[in-house]
Amino acid sequence: MSTLIAKTAQDISHKPVGQFEETRFEKIHNVIFEDSNVASIQVAQEIADLIRKKQALGQNCVLGLATGSSPIKVYEELVRMHKEEGLSFSNVITFNLDEYLPMEKGNMQSYYYFMHEHLFNHVDIPEENINIPDGSIPQEDVVEYCLSYEKKIKDNGGIDFQLLGIGRTGHIGFNEPGSHYNSGTRIITLDHITRVDAAPAFLGIDNVPRKAITMGIATVRSAKRIVLLGWGNNKAKIIKKTIEGEISSHVPATYLQKHNNVTFVLDKGAGSELTRNKTPWLVGSCEWTEELTSKAIVWLCAKTGKSILRLTDKDYNDNGMSDLLSLEDSYDLNIKMFNKLQHTITGWPGGKPNADDTSRPERAEPAKKRVIIFSPHPDDDVISMGGTFDRLIEQGHDVHVAYQTSGNIAVSDKEALKFAEIANTITPSKESESIIEAILNKDENTFDALEVRTLKGAIRRSESYAATRYLGLDDSHVHFLNLPFYETGTIKKNNLSNADIDIVVDLINEIKPHQIFAAGDLADPHGTHKVCLDAIFEALKRLKEESFMKDCWLWLYRGAWHEWDINEIEMAVPMSPDQVLKKRYAIFCHQSQKDGVMFQGDDSREFWMRAEERNKHTAAKYKALGLADYAAIEAFVRYKMD
Ligand code: F6R
Repeated sequence: MSTLIAKTAQDISHKPVGQFEETRFEKIHNVIFEDSNVASIQVAQEIADLIRKKQALGQNCVLGLATGSSPIKVYEELVRMHKEEGLSFSNVITFNLDEYLPMEKGNMQSYYYFMHEHLFNHVDIPEENINIPDGSIPQEDVVEYCLSYEKKIKDNGGIDFQLLGIGRTGHIGFNEPGSHYNSGTRIITLDHITRVDAAPAFLGIDNVPRKAITMGIATVRSAKRIVLLGWGNNKAKIIKKTIEGEISSHVPATYLQKHNNVTFVLDKGAGSELTRNKTPWLVGSCEWTEELTSKAIVWLCAKTGKSILRLTDKDYNDNGMSDLLSLEDSYDLNIKMFNKLQHTITGWPGGKPNADDTSRPERAEPAKKRVIIFSPHPDDDVISMGGTFDRLIEQGHDVHVAYQTSGNIAVSDKEALKFAEIANTITPSKESESIIEAILNKDENTFDALEVRTLKGAIRRSESYAATRYLGLDDSHVHFLNLPFYETGTIKKNNLSNADIDIVVDLINEIKPHQIFAAGDLADPHGTHKVCLDAIFEALKRLKEESFMKDCWLWLYRGAWHEWDINEIEMAVPMSPDQVLKKRYAIFCHQSQKDGVMFQGDDSREFWMRAEERNKHTAAKYKALGLADYAAIEAFVRYKMD
């Protein structure tokens, strides 16, 4: 059985729960798309079809709408359909799920602002048809206000189509763990994880409101049709719990198991933990490709606590892999897998000169390679591949590093103020004073002034030089691309444009590299890493016909958040204990990202700790599989360009 990848609107049309037979583990109808953009377009299509159908019947169409990163592309597509295909919203009435409390409509973090920016300002919906919980309502009026919101939904005939996202707590709307099955629209206290996730948009957790108004579980359940969107690996665990777990108030989204017309629309990342994708051999018969076989053997070792060469026929049989054994016996399977992993290990990430390279990850020739390491932010290079970076330089390759974005928004005001004050002490100037004043007078609703952003970018640039000089790289080999898509001064970035791609094309064309290393965070649908990777893919497509391109290999490392699975790794670069320390010191050079990083995510460890633990963990996994025992390993996957 292989992963089902949906392509068309038909694929998301609902199958009632009782007849849903995808696997015995799943309790909610779901479809998985290769990519969240394609999926979003299909969801927008379903909404548009409903609006048109209702229009033809002379009826209103009542939509329940969500905010957050998940529905952005759906709204973008609806706006496109309005502009290019004449889709009218004149019969549409909307009810938004939630709003922070307290929150003014004019605040850029408000859901009121979000909805107008992404949808309402660009379509012909009558203003009076828009309903968004009002976050500016006085505390004493909230209860009554919530009852009237609920009543208004009923008076309009109920919600025809409810769009949802899901929080990592399992919330839908802001129905946090503990929410009751029969809850209605009400005031709620936000879970800590939800506030952590919202912190970047509010430039720090302290600015995130503690309360919100949310439609209740019963309000959501009363919708005639529900579609929940889930994108990216960091939703994978909660999606699995929701679809496969027991119904529980600890994961409020599990209440959707009882709805008779719900579909979860997922991308590959979000669907990756579902049993049918993660361990398909436990679900039914499989098509045993080489990739799936490797994945299954690595899993079997973890399950049995054995190394590869100790696995027996019985281990395979007992764990749903008997059909694999009918193709090959365990001895051959084990040896093949052992050799495959063994051949991924190399201390020569740029290839070993004068060595037989038939079973090495990199080519021996040319002995001295031109290399570009692309780093989305100014520290991903050392965090994710500091050891390999060091080796490439030591082994004499012509290494260049390209920092794709300035990383300026991740420098705190406190840090910037320190440098501005030092500058002003050494040479008092109007410029320094105006920066100091801008920082001291900044409130949560204003962007950084341009000169503050410039200073923050300069801090990160100096830190990058400190790290590259420490590794022995000449300054002339350090490139700051400052891609324009990033320079908005806020968390929300612009879309990738030709201006970004041209900058990447020019650098690749100038260096003509044999190797490119890039952050391969393929599954993160909206983040900076994905945009930076797309810029490289697009640049490589444009350079495809250049003669140097036939010798150019692209290696992907993973960003700070998450590592390749062992079975995916194609090059494993081991590090000695000394190299681990050297990498640590290189990461330390990025001082503005130490101690209280602004965009920490849900992991409170500092970046050097995460990187170290991750690399040690990879090494420990190799050891557990029966391979050599290293202090740490950095991992790469080769991306084959067509
Ligand atoms: C938003 C909402 C929330 C989000 C959820 C996922 O109106 O009610 O439930 O849908 O927090 O947020 P994103 O899409 O940003 O991951």
